[in-house]
Amino acid sequence: MCGIIGYIGKQEAVPILLEGLRRLEYRGYDSAGLAVLGKKVKCAKAVGKVKALEDKIKRQKLSGFLGIAHTRWATHGAPGEKNAHPHSDCRGNLWLAHNGIIENYQKLKKSLQAKGHKFKSETDTEVLVHLIEEEQSKRGGLTLEEATRRALKKVIGTYGLAVISAKEPQKIVVARQSSPLLIGVGENEYLVASDACAVITRTNQVIYLDDGEIGVIEPSGVKIINLDKEPIKKSNHIIDWDLSRAQKDGFDHFTLKEIFEQPQAIANSLRGRLISEDGLAKLGGLQDVEEKLRDIERLVVVGCGTAYYSGLIGEYMLEEYAGVPTEVEYASEFRYRKPVLDKTSALLCVSQSGETADSLAALQEARRKGILTLGFVNAVGSTIARVTDAGVYNHIGPEIGVASTKAFSSQICLFALLTLFLGRQRNLSLVMGQRIARELQNMPVLVKKVLRQDKVIQKIARKYFKAKDFFFLGRKYNFPLALEGALKLKEISYIHAEGYGAGEMKHGPIAMIDKNFPTLAIAPKDSVYEKMAANIEEIKARGGPVIALTTERNNALNKLADDVIFLPKTLEMLTPILAVVPLQLLAYHCAILKNRDVDKPRNLAKSVTVE
Ligand code: AGP
Ligand code: GLU
Repeated sequence: MCGIIGYIGKQEAVPILLEGLRRLEYRGYDSAGLAVLGKKVKCAKAVGKVKALEDKIKRQKLSGFLGIAHTRWATHGAPGEKNAHPHSDCRGNLWLAHNGIIENYQKLKKSLQAKGHKFKSETDTEVLVHLIEEEQSKRGGLTLEEATRRALKKVIGTYGLAVISAKEPQKIVVARQSSPLLIGVGENEYLVASDACAVITRTNQVIYLDDGEIGVIEPSGVKIINLDKEPIKKSNHIIDWDLSRAQKDGFDHFTLKEIFEQPQAIANSLRGRLISEDGLAKLGGLQDVEEKLRDIERLVVVGCGTAYYSGLIGEYMLEEYAGVPTEVEYASEFRYRKPVLDKTSALLCVSQSGETADSLAALQEARRKGILTLGFVNAVGSTIARVTDAGVYNHIGPEIGVASTKAFSSQICLFALLTLFLGRQRNLSLVMGQRIARELQNMPVLVKKVLRQDKVIQKIARKYFKAKDFFFLGRKYNFPLALEGALKLKEISYIHAEGYGAGEMKHGPIAMIDKNFPTLAIAPKDSVYEKMAANIEEIKARGGPVIALTTERNNALNKLADDVIFLPKTLEMLTPILAVVPLQLLAYHCAILKNRDVDKPRNLAKSVTVE
């Protein structure tokens, strides 16, 4: 989700807003816009980089001491000027910028249109500004903050928002629910921003808004209330970060920030998509092809790297719980071989960036054969998203670190949602559907619990970061996870690592084991736990060090393994969402100990748009 900046003070707002947008640009964006209040509100929007907006504004005279601006990371409505923020009400008095997702926007939009509101964009955001307008038209004289408060009581979803009104030219109203927002307290000026890095050059004093809070900013000062209109007392925080750390929310690297962002990212991927009481997944992006999906007899999944590994985990889910024969292929192989596809097949392309050349080529090959194509993509409006017949967005905001972390755990969640969706069209029972849905809903809390072991994992990394080679072993759902763990370690610490199905060790790889060859064994208490425990015995018998991942309260490995990391109990099919976190943290801490460039590892690109 992208960035908001607002200003009210004694300086011209536009240069300050543009400076703030530039500082938010690292978070990725597809378009940007601003609205500034002089004699009336003037707005400018542009697709692409902030520079495009700057160039556009050069040709316009935008003047005023109050304004808001936004860099967009689209979730609803393709990137483009029409969907860029800020969005206005029917009369052009109210202007609003928003980060987040309004889950019930279709229902709100329908009811507002029935009352005569004219919408100009396809975004979910636009309902907010018309809701505020509707409140003010229902009761004359409602202040902007009161109309906003009443409007937000009708909203389900996440928001960090800033709204201004031509009728109240000395005021910015802000509100927060799950998307960060802060108020910068300057010298006779105030700023609002989604991220400290946008204000840090003008002030280091900030007020962080918490969920359910509304801020009213006027030259005379800041007032904070909650959704029940009760005044809230807030204290100023002093930011002691420099700009670079501010962009990472205080983390040392984007990669670490994104590892710790996973609870929120998973919550956003699941938001509005689970109907737990019916054991169903609601996937709006698949609505138009729902009947076609009922008839498919085979699913081919293509992707590269981490996206491919998420597909391998999806294969286990889809075959075990949805009964859909699934095969997963490297896109770079699929595109050159002669795959046998027919009308009863469908192809699912998994890609965080939506621009990976091999994945796009595999997708186009499938389209040439006329089969149904789906996408799991994070970047809205990206090429792969536009080429597929239908799909599901991750909704996790931009992933900056080259190593894929929050995208992977989100992709597994999307496969679990697809398993529910297809399974409940087939033989998956209500009871099992409810179990999966409820456990899936619980993932953000359980991932947060695993993240609390960061220091334990950091200590383990100190023991093993000098190793030249590593094995990662798992079975069933955790075999693809072993491949992902090996890839993480390789790509950010440059330590050689291999992932294997643990059953394969006796067919050759175990010859490599000695005291300098550590193994990470993913051994939760699941249907293959005894087999994994036996594998650990075999490795220990040959003097190999073992780090075991197992379920909390299972102490059977404490004496056997050299180090043990405990995971909360969950369904076997969802274990990888929890177990991947220690693997990511192990790779991260080893990379730090080896002074690697974690966010931009050598030889790698975030999106491989070439063959
Ligand atoms: C994973 O950490 C790597 N960044 C890489 O394997 C990546 O998953 C692969 O290039 C696919 O990228 P995509 O998801 O954007 O298509
Ligand atoms: N959901 C809104 C949109 O798609 C906001 C996206 C964002 O956070 O940038 O426009």
